[in-house]
Amino acid sequence: MTEGVQTSPAFTPRVFSGIQPSGGLTLGNYLGAIKRFVDKQDEGIETIYCVVDQHAITATLFDPAVLRRQTRELAAGYIASGLDPEKSILFNQSQVAEHAQLGWIFNCIARMGWMQRMTQWKDKAGKNSQNASLGLFAYPALMAADILLYHATEVPVGEDQKQHVELTRDIAAKFNHDYGVDFFPITEPVIEGAATRVMSLRDGSKKMSKSDPSDMSRINMTDDADAIAAKIRKARTDPDALPSEAKGLEERPEARNLVNIYAALCEQSVDQVLADVGGKQFSEFKPMLSDLAVAKLAPISNEMARLMETPDEIDAILGRGADRARAIAAPILKQTYDIIGMVQS
Ligand code: AMP
Ligand code: TRP
Repeated sequence: MTEGVQTSPAFTPRVFSGIQPSGGLTLGNYLGAIKRFVDKQDEGIETIYCVVDQHAITATLFDPAVLRRQTRELAAGYIASGLDPEKSILFNQSQVAEHAQLGWIFNCIARMGWMQRMTQWKDKAGKNSQNASLGLFAYPALMAADILLYHATEVPVGEDQKQHVELTRDIAAKFNHDYGVDFFPITEPVIEGAATRVMSLRDGSKKMSKSDPSDMSRINMTDDADAIAAKIRKARTDPDALPSEAKGLEERPEARNLVNIYAALCEQSVDQVLADVGGKQFSEFKPMLSDLAVAKLAPISNEMARLMETPDEIDAILGRGADRARAIAAPILKQTYDIIGMVQS
């Protein structure tokens, strides 16, 4: 819809991304999102990361104690992975009311037809769409508000969120066009690296997901060394040895997935990894992969557990982040209201 539209150079580069506190974090979330968020923080660009609690209630209403715990656990996961709350802004969505306020405006910009085309809506609502919440349908307009409330120019996400960022571009372009302004940037999705789509360990055609009924399909950030080793040992593969070039993985989704995970964890390209491990059998490669995964994840899960012992400190970090976020968001919302003609006295 907005193909070919360039990001306006008038906007200062700013990164925004968010994750739902809707369950434990997986290796997919870590490699596809959090690790990349942390890497961005050192690129000299302003970075804003959010625990999107208002998105989390679109599909399921959680027990309040569970939502509270998951919100803090996600914040702890960000921090334990290296996100520095001084360098980046870290907060939870519901503490900055401007998200819901701009979300409403975008509900009136986005078209029903655009929303109906969202594949995640179709997947999540399934056959029973009449019974899905209105919030689930409107969710991508709230996501657009999250991003555009900060005039964010870049959104690092996994492959599954690309369509939502494209919708954000459509909403920005329609708003700018309808009101004859150049107010919202045309944001770029940033989908890069070896692990933008980490697949299930049991089925190389399915995304690794916290909602998969089989716990063996995923590595959770809180899994201990034995669990990680067992899951990798049992991961589905094929009988062939590893190839020495990426091309050799084309028709081998499970093999490709394990190599991608390895490459992302050790921050090498797939070709660099295959130059070392090409020719090895899985019986040799799998223990290398579990050792690497344990070495990278154990310090993070230990730190998460330590942070969770002092929830008040996590809340204080989120509160300070929310104040900093609001300082950026409030003037942008006010300008939006002015453009629309909503009197603010
Ligand atoms: P979610 O857990 O669906 O809220 O996703 C949070 C972030 O993690 C988003 O940027 C997703 O694109 C990313 N993500 C989730 N699962 C995966 C996966 N299996 N591979 C890569 N990225 C993922
Ligand atoms: N929809 C995203 C997901 O499920 C989470 C999200 C909400 C998000 N708002 C965002 C991601 C803004 C990036 C930017 O993963």
